[in-house]
Amino acid sequence: MSTPTQDAVAASTSLLDSLRTAVGADHVLVDADLTASYETDWTGRFTGRARCVVRPADTAQVAAVVRACAAAGAPVVVQGGNTGLVGGAVPAGGEVLLSLTRLTSLGEVDRAGGQVSAGAGVTLTRLQEHARAAGLDFGVDLAARDSATVGGLVATNAGGIRVLRYGSMRAQLLGAEAVLADGSVVSRMAGLLKDGTGYDLVGLLCGSEGTLAVVTQVRLRLVPRLPARAVALLAMPDAEAAIAVLPGLRERLPHLSAAELLFAPGLALVRKHGHLPAPFPEQHPAFLLVECADRVDPTDALVEAVAEAGGLLDATVATDAAGQRALWAYREQHTEAISAEGVPVKLDVSVPTGRLPELVARLAPVIAEVAPDATPIVFGHVNEGNLHVNVLGAGPLAEQVSDAVLRLVAELDGSISSEHGVGRAKTAWLSLSRSPVEIAAMRALKCALDPAGLLNPGVLLPAPVA
Ligand code: MLT
Ligand code: ZN
Repeated sequence: MSTPTQDAVAASTSLLDSLRTAVGADHVLVDADLTASYETDWTGRFTGRARCVVRPADTAQVAAVVRACAAAGAPVVVQGGNTGLVGGAVPAGGEVLLSLTRLTSLGEVDRAGGQVSAGAGVTLTRLQEHARAAGLDFGVDLAARDSATVGGLVATNAGGIRVLRYGSMRAQLLGAEAVLADGSVVSRMAGLLKDGTGYDLVGLLCGSEGTLAVVTQVRLRLVPRLPARAVALLAMPDAEAAIAVLPGLRERLPHLSAAELLFAPGLALVRKHGHLPAPFPEQHPAFLLVECADRVDPTDALVEAVAEAGGLLDATVATDAAGQRALWAYREQHTEAISAEGVPVKLDVSVPTGRLPELVARLAPVIAEVAPDATPIVFGHVNEGNLHVNVLGAGPLAEQVSDAVLRLVAELDGSISSEHGVGRAKTAWLSLSRSPVEIAAMRALKCALDPAGLLNPGVLLPAPVA
């Protein structure tokens, strides 16, 4: 008679055999040297050992992997470019890590429909280049574009810097193909612009963080390519002044495509790590970076709108591509500069836009109360009331800092996760943003689609109370 240990070893060997049959032995990684880069997230905060890393090449192989895992009762964690910031795509310990980076198919651009099909592993940069080569563009853009993949953007309903103009990832999604927890495949890739046949499963998968199904490819809306750009950096006394100029800019500039908020401490970090010059001769407390994009040069319109905006301490408008990149660097290098200083507590919150000044004003005192030595670095997407609150030097007080900030956000009618997802990092606080009825409905959906709880366990939904 075999012992329980022998049974476990036999079951594990048989799962590995099935996975090797599904994707080929070269794409089932078990050696620690080979799996390590998949097992720690970008921030260095979340890490765990995977049972193995499996790298399928297409939907059929993903389905075979999921079927094998379902048969073995083996939990699966799904990963794209591993640029996530909430621990939603790295193992907690012992899961099969399903990496989708080989799903790189990219269909021909359909100009009639203004659409394209893209595999889950296509990077955002590749998707953008592909659309631009056909005279179109993709509506979502963000700093991690070179590594972030389409599957991850869908899983988190990613936002980024162009939500003001085109909306988040869900607004670009016209169809999807996905593998359900039992290995069956749902495919809605026709790209119908109107479809009134019941539940929007594609929309539901967007933002579900891999907990309901594994999205393997998507049909995406494309937008007109607008090659002429103008970028301005406005120096402001505070967040309140930045919010006050926003409606005027939006109304005067129909081609406004980005409005990003940053502050002196973040700018100082970016300048230190990126060796960048000061944007203005004087130091200022807050900054609004705005961009317009159009078919014809929007510089004059932007200059006029900036001249008429009240409350500015200074302003600079970049007229050529190099100058525009230099201004964007002050904003886009925040994440790297913060990580170069240490492992931050990373929070991504939103409040109704009008309440953003109150959030900004109360953040530092609320953080100081629980972690007096910590340093908050704050920046974000001002139009959506979305602040990235990064706290350096919180050490063992990380949980208390998160709790204090997220409770403040809830008090201001905000969301504990605006665009990064809930992951493992924020599950404990989900009830600050979702009612018991909503959480019960989400749990019912999870149970219906993944009754054994094998897809991304521990992500998004808190463990049920026993
Ligand atoms: C950004 O807006 O740059 C990203 O959401 C990344 C971050 O918050 O670190
Ligand atoms: Zn962001």
